[in-house]
Amino acid sequence: MPRLHVNVDHVATLRQARREAFPDPVEWALRVERAGAQGITCHLRKDRRHIQDADVANLRRSIRTLLNLECSLDPEMVTFALRSGAEAFCLVPETRQEVTTEGGLDVRGELERVKRVTAELAAEGGAVSLFIDADREQIAAAADSGAPFIELHTGCYANAKGDARARELERLVAGAAFARERGLRVNAGHGLDYSNVGPVAAIEGVEELNIGFAIVAHAVFVGVDAAIVQMLDAMRAGRSKA
Ligand code: PXP
Repeated sequence: MPRLHVNVDHVATLRQARREAFPDPVEWALRVERAGAQGITCHLRKDRRHIQDADVANLRRSIRTLLNLECSLDPEMVTFALRSGAEAFCLVPETRQEVTTEGGLDVRGELERVKRVTAELAAEGGAVSLFIDADREQIAAAADSGAPFIELHTGCYANAKGDARARELERLVAGAAFARERGLRVNAGHGLDYSNVGPVAAIEGVEELNIGFAIVAHAVFVGVDAAIVQMLDAMRAGRSKA
């Protein structure tokens, strides 16, 4: 079964709504780890709308699993990432107007920049992944970039219904297989929730799922422990059906 890495951004979103010191995403991350998640992810956005610089440092100091920092190719964010001490980096596209990350990184269009940033982050000892759509051209470009991992963008799958969702799942399955043939390791995430995670957890060779919003939203009702345990159960159930 893939590892569950939990994105803690939206605990910070709640805190920033009142500019308070709570709820603390670091304290939340520690509970997430105790409940069984295998890694913590956060995204320091240029507009600092949720996670703040100090959160990344505090997460790095406090958590016991692995810190995966999502970051754009913007030079300021890359400089921050290089000094962050995170063990893993996921390069993502970022625009100010978007509500959340929309679409994957255009690795093909930005190959030289992606190669340079990937080499810089890898020199700091970080495992780099590229957040991309399950598109053969993007996957082929990722294989040329020097990054060992891709994270397949599952947003289109999560938003689709009925036959369209089945087609999106096929695209993810084919994308994961093609990436592995090209020597890439494969993670996945975005828009995954308790009802749609199973088939993605069952995709052959997917090593890690990054899930945030659905877990934070569910934890409001059932608490952190149950939200994590139920997500792990949903992933396991998906694997056992495959
Ligand atoms: N993976 C990446 C690269 C993301 O940008 C996000 C959103 O921050 C996620 C996974 C998690 O998405 P969600 O919050 O919809 O679970």
